[in-house]
Amino acid sequence: MRLIADPAEVRGLCSSLPRPLGFVPTMGALHEGHLALVARARERSASVVASLFVNPLQFGAGEDLQRYPRDFAGDRGKLEAAGVDLLFGPSPEAMYPATFSTSIDAGSMADSFEGAIRPGHFAGVATVVVKLLHLVGPDALFLGQKDAQQTAVLHRVIHDLALPVEVEIVETVREADGLALSSRNAYLNESERAAAPTLHRCLLALRAALERGASKSEASAQARGTLAGGAKLDYLDVVDAETFEPIDDVRPPAFVIGAARFGTTRLIDNLWIREARA
Ligand code: PAF
Repeated sequence: MRLIADPAEVRGLCSSLPRPLGFVPTMGALHEGHLALVARARERSASVVASLFVNPLQFGAGEDLQRYPRDFAGDRGKLEAAGVDLLFGPSPEAMYPATFSTSIDAGSMADSFEGAIRPGHFAGVATVVVKLLHLVGPDALFLGQKDAQQTAVLHRVIHDLALPVEVEIVETVREADGLALSSRNAYLNESERAAAPTLHRCLLALRAALERGASKSEASAQARGTLAGGAKLDYLDVVDAETFEPIDDVRPPAFVIGAARFGTTRLIDNLWIREARA
């Protein structure tokens, strides 16, 4: 696996790789969820490029940029073992020189749910991903379903700006007890870790109640009861999968989405509603 840090070099190197080229952007602290993205990219592509860049633009004031787990050597080893051909690992200064001032605004879809709690987050995500896409020039971009709003925002940006890349969403990887894998799980203490799978249970309960025909408010009330006592729910809702607008008459494709705090750690999760209810 080749390791490149210089944005000026990466474009030329990527353009000489065999096509189709699959791209997996990451912020490191890699777990099986990231490796599932690489495995899918490997299956579908002649060459796989990954990036490892903790993007300061997507962290708000008071968020965990400094605390964000970093293990470059360990991550590099995992990506190499997973079959990545080229790893792009730029410095913040190389990606964002002092004169950098552009930001991509994805509109109202970026202002709800995660965007309301983390103002500017999706502008930071969209800006770095568009820059990475320009540098790498892939045929396909592989994203995880766990960050469903991020995938919806990036779909919108890629479509609106006519970027020539296909997006593939790879299903969330879970622990045996249902907890979605996330780099943030590392922050949970023992009791928070024991409580954290109740977010998944809450979403399962919401989806099941909706599928039984309950109204959204009844279904939400039932689902909230399954969340661990100490957890604080930030939101629980059903949204259109494409627009991320809340919907009442649940029609697929949609997501049930939720975010909750376990101690100081915020976790997000979602489930697809793909099929029409019976
Ligand atoms: O999902 C992530 O890890 C990040 O938001 C991404 C897509 C790599 C952009 O920094």
